[in-house]
Amino acid sequence: MTSRISSRSFDPAQDKLLSWYRDNKRTLPWRVDNPDPYMVWVSEIMLQQTRVETVIPYFEKWMRLFPNIRALANASERDVLNIWEGLGYYSRARNLHKAAKIVADQYDGKLPRDLDALRKLPGIGRYTLGAIASIAFGMDVPALDGNIRRVYARLFDISEPADSPAGEKILWKLAETHLPRGQAGDFNQALMDLGATLCVPKNPRCLICPLMKICKARINGTQNQRPVMKPKRDVPQYVHAAGVIVRRIANPPYEEVLLAQRPSKGLLAGMWEFPNGRVNGDPSKRLAKALKTGYNLNLRAERRDGARPSRRRSAKLLGIVQHAYTHFKVTVHAFQCELGSMPRHGNLKWVSLKELDDYPMGKIDRQIAKMIKN
Ligand code: ADE
Repeated sequence: MTSRISSRSFDPAQDKLLSWYRDNKRTLPWRVDNPDPYMVWVSEIMLQQTRVETVIPYFEKWMRLFPNIRALANASERDVLNIWEGLGYYSRARNLHKAAKIVADQYDGKLPRDLDALRKLPGIGRYTLGAIASIAFGMDVPALDGNIRRVYARLFDISEPADSPAGEKILWKLAETHLPRGQAGDFNQALMDLGATLCVPKNPRCLICPLMKICKARINGTQNQRPVMKPKRDVPQYVHAAGVIVRRIANPPYEEVLLAQRPSKGLLAGMWEFPNGRVNGDPSKRLAKALKTGYNLNLRAERRDGARPSRRRSAKLLGIVQHAYTHFKVTVHAFQCELGSMPRHGNLKWVSLKELDDYPMGKIDRQIAKMIKN
């Protein structure tokens, strides 16, 4: 059941929420008096799809290494991705970097205090625009992230799926209508903190919520069914075989491993990985073909003493790693194997084991890298 949306029933509660926020707001490194807009921007990009506790150490390191927009604009993409490694959704880091270059070139290194100019920067969508404009510049602009969406869906008992175009429209309208003018930054953050600490997805802590008396879902007993979300589609599951190919250099003695750089567009763009390919069937039997197809690599045939070379390849299973991306899941079987020959392939590079940490990788490949370093 969706109740009619009435602004009058909520607006007297704005003060309650703001005073709750004054007493209960979380202490966060980017939450300071008169925050530097760059700091707000970086924090808001990092916080997309990512929990506050995860973001804090990344944010602190980022600010130490790239203390202002010019420092970020002048950094290499590899350094930027390296610091971001582990946060996921790497296009956020690449967009932040691209946008910093634009701001350095076109706005004298200062984030523009202008909604149209901000919105044109790579990586700034409707939510981030609202968060930066309200928190950094004190502008009356709503922001609707996952937490705020849940709070409004409960306060007004919205039965329309919150992730549908119709639901989004209703929720943005609510966020716009109920914004207390002149206090948008604090108000948006109060809603975020309420969503993160009390109005949590499961078993919301309604009894200590400052908005309990006016929350329609609480009154109707539907708080555990709000927000309604569209049914999730099954995500596909893929299996990959990856080759860990090490070579020994004699003088001075050290070891190198063969890495491949991913294409500059798409998932994990520009990051490094162990040569791998998607397989159907037994990964140990499909590895050689996958590496031949993907990289023109020939694995060395296995020889048993005195015997003819067998058709089988010498590959030893190092480990199996799984990861869930937003739209699919992948299981990677990593094999230690030896190279027969390696025709030229632009994206392959021998990297010394000592330097592996300098090459930005996704979670799966970093786990494989750890297996060979230990
Ligand atoms: N989530 C996204 N932005 C946030 C902020 N500014 N404070 C707390 N949580 C957030």
